[in-house]
Amino acid sequence: MSRILVISTSLREGSNSELLARRAAAGARDAGHAAELLSLKGKKIGFCLGCMACQETRKCVQPDDAAGIADKVFRAETLVFATPVYYSGMSGQMKTLLDRLEPLYGAGARFRRVYLLCTAAEQAQSTPEKTILGLRGWVDAFPPAEFAGTLFCGGLAGPGAAAADPDALAQAYAFGRSLS
Ligand SMILES: Cc1cc2nc3c(=O)[nH]c(=O)nc-3n(C[C@H](O)[C@H](O)[C@H](O)COP(=O)(O)O)c2cc1C
Repeated sequence: MSRILVISTSLREGSNSELLARRAAAGARDAGHAAELLSLKGKKIGFCLGCMACQETRKCVQPDDAAGIADKVFRAETLVFATPVYYSGMSGQMKTLLDRLEPLYGAGARFRRVYLLCTAAEQAQSTPEKTILGLRGWVDAFPPAEFAGTLFCGGLAGPGAAAADPDALAQAYAFGRSLS
């Protein structure tokens, strides 16, 4: 049994990646894990200022919602980041969150496995390559954590598209069940 934190970064109503993230969390729970889904909707998360004060204090100088999320990330054993593909990469809000997790750098966070779940309008399997690279770059800074895998569901353009795609929903549930 792992403590799994699924972070959904899309802000849109009817989000495809959030719905699939919820299915993945359900699959993980059914497989016996303790899985929590956290959405960035309604959260206040400022850009990293690059001051590096957190490397001394382990706290960010900005009093916003990033600190609470960083606490949950610190305690999780497995992380799943869910994002829409934006211009071939991760969403800006996901990148902002990754930067704001800087207080965890070198702090002995517990997580060991990091997964990516992403959706896009395009269907080509190569679509998420740069998104994967972006998340891998972050994971590489947190040894011994490893990038553990990706679920990519393409062909999902408008809001609500995933809700009408039984294959994507089934893939997300199976992905959740396969998490460790
Ligand atoms: C700013 C922006 C950039 C996008 N860039 C891409 C892209 O490069 N490739 C692609 O296939 N889809 C792109 N899309 C479409 C989204 O990835 C797609 O609609 C996705 O399913 C949205 O997920 P969400 O509903 O969880 O937000 C883009 C959408 C937006 C708003």
